[in-house]
Amino acid sequence: MKTWIDSLRNEHQLPTQAYKELLTCSDADTIEYLHQQAREVSLSHFNNKIYIRGLIEISNCCKNDCYYCGIRKSNSIVERYRLSKEQILSCCKEGYELGFRTFVMQGGEDRAQSVEWVVEVVKDIRTTYPDCAITLSLGELSYQDYKKLYDAGANRFLLRHETFDSSHYKQLHPDNMSAEHRQQCLRWLKEIGFQTGTGIMVGSPFQTIDNIIDDIQFIYDLKPQMIGIGPFIPHKDTPFAKYNAGSIELTLRLISIFRLMFPSVLIPSTTALASLGNDGRLRGILAGANVVMPNLSPCDNRKKYSLYNNKAALGSEAAEGLALLNDQLKTIGYEISFERGDYSI
Ligand code: 5AD
Repeated sequence: MKTWIDSLRNEHQLPTQAYKELLTCSDADTIEYLHQQAREVSLSHFNNKIYIRGLIEISNCCKNDCYYCGIRKSNSIVERYRLSKEQILSCCKEGYELGFRTFVMQGGEDRAQSVEWVVEVVKDIRTTYPDCAITLSLGELSYQDYKKLYDAGANRFLLRHETFDSSHYKQLHPDNMSAEHRQQCLRWLKEIGFQTGTGIMVGSPFQTIDNIIDDIQFIYDLKPQMIGIGPFIPHKDTPFAKYNAGSIELTLRLISIFRLMFPSVLIPSTTALASLGNDGRLRGILAGANVVMPNLSPCDNRKKYSLYNNKAALGSEAAEGLALLNDQLKTIGYEISFERGDYSI
């Protein structure tokens, strides 16, 4: 098995059967070797520096009804909000003063925040903070709309494909959504020139190891600049309330596989990972992740942007908690980088 891991590190690819064996392997030494190799690669590309991104959750209104997501349209219990342009700009101001040089605007697919409106917000941020990267995570749009956002000054876009397999995708989403369209959006984003992020939830209901292998293959072919891998966590007011959360160990294994596959790709140690276990954030970094995304949303709104239960948004998860985050990183020999942290080979 170690030979496979060495070969993934050197050739950046493995036969399907080898992925399967890695994902199902129960030998602790082998898995520690996987994480160690991934960590070495990460350290050689980024030193011990962890990029930070300020996450601004701009709206929890959504026209979609994804079965796993706490802000799905049919959840009548969520108190809905949408931030104004002024609120978003004031988050950026606070973030800039704290040292953030990337702002991530994430939200549900909220048609009341029209693309024209987002374009105006992006232009304002671009003018006020010319040295910052602007990342959007706003779901599926048309090619033309993505292009407008790019032309307005957005640099990066995050859109997880969630799962490659179309029948598994159908089990997670209502009929008006499809795996094919999601994947098309990702190809458009890359074509337009966005640094593009994709990814999956680990342990989503009905997911099989073969599904994950398809995801690995899809990501290998897409060659995204960012890969977000987080465990599924049930939300009590969704159809998936009774399902178990995904495994931290499998999430970490995938982080390491992607680090070896793409040495310079940006991989966050996700909030979902941090939310499942106290040391999740640090374990993600020790498995090869090199990005964290502290929450920069107005404090009152953070609880309302609840995709899953028990979301970590306090202490070192909060933008105001950067010093705490840095202290935690130091315990494992890493520290925050205040660079913009663009993808580069
Ligand atoms: N558990 C974990 N991750 C979730 N997401 C949405 N709902 C959940 C959940 N219940 C993830 C999706 C989405 C990202 C913004 O959050 O992968 O793409």
